[in-house]
Amino acid sequence: MRPEGPDVHLYRRMAAALTARIRRLTGADDRTLAEMYRQFEPLGVAAGLPPRNEQARREWIKRSLEHEINFGAFSPNGELAGHCFLAADGPGSAEMAVFVHQNFRNQGVGRQLIRAAIQEACRKHIQRVWTMTSADNLAALALLKRCGFRTTQRSVTAFDLELELEPACAAAAPHGATD
Ligand SMILES: CC(C)(COP(=O)(O)OP(=O)(O)OC[C@H]1O[C@@H](n2cnc3c(N)ncnc32)[C@H](O)[C@@H]1OP(=O)(O)O)[C@@H](O)C(=O)NCCC(=O)NCCS
Repeated sequence: MRPEGPDVHLYRRMAAALTARIRRLTGADDRTLAEMYRQFEPLGVAAGLPPRNEQARREWIKRSLEHEINFGAFSPNGELAGHCFLAADGPGSAEMAVFVHQNFRNQGVGRQLIRAAIQEACRKHIQRVWTMTSADNLAALALLKRCGFRTTQRSVTAFDLELELEPACAAAAPHGATD
């Protein structure tokens, strides 16, 4: 019997984790991203992202790929399973966005992507990574807390979270975990 109801994630946690191949994304990956986001569900859930409108989505993908810290997670079959990027918004500060295709959720893909992005942020001497999520996005909240983010502000509908990076993390961030 398929598990249903609020505890469904507990059952999914028991499923084997997906060891994704994490690699940097560049402007040349726009079609691959467009394909993943075309089928992405739900669209518009994270502050209107990914955009529901196809043209707006294409432009958003193009802009997102302009950010230096940009990673994709690929399944063993080579499908793009998720995308994470950091948008610099001031000296030493960047906003993080992470999206995992619904076919690959609850298998640790989000965590692997965030880990890669944070390691790169360390290497680039970013001191603060922050993000926002709606209060009912329990998966995002669980993932962010698991990755060390702490809540800086909360309202009935939304959470602001941030991760402060130690100055020493640049030296500790491994090289070669991604290509
Ligand atoms: C949020 C998102 C990126 C998570 O990606 P993912 O690959 O499923 O993440 P992971 O598998 O690494 O971790 C998910 C965690 O959420 C937990 N989770 C999932 N559903 C849950 C629920 N309903 N209640 C509580 N926890 C839940 C999982 O158990 C897991 O935690 P664990 O590692 O402690 O077991 C993905 O759901 C997504 O793309 N959502 C739509 C876009 C979005 O909301 N982006 C984030 C905006 S900040």
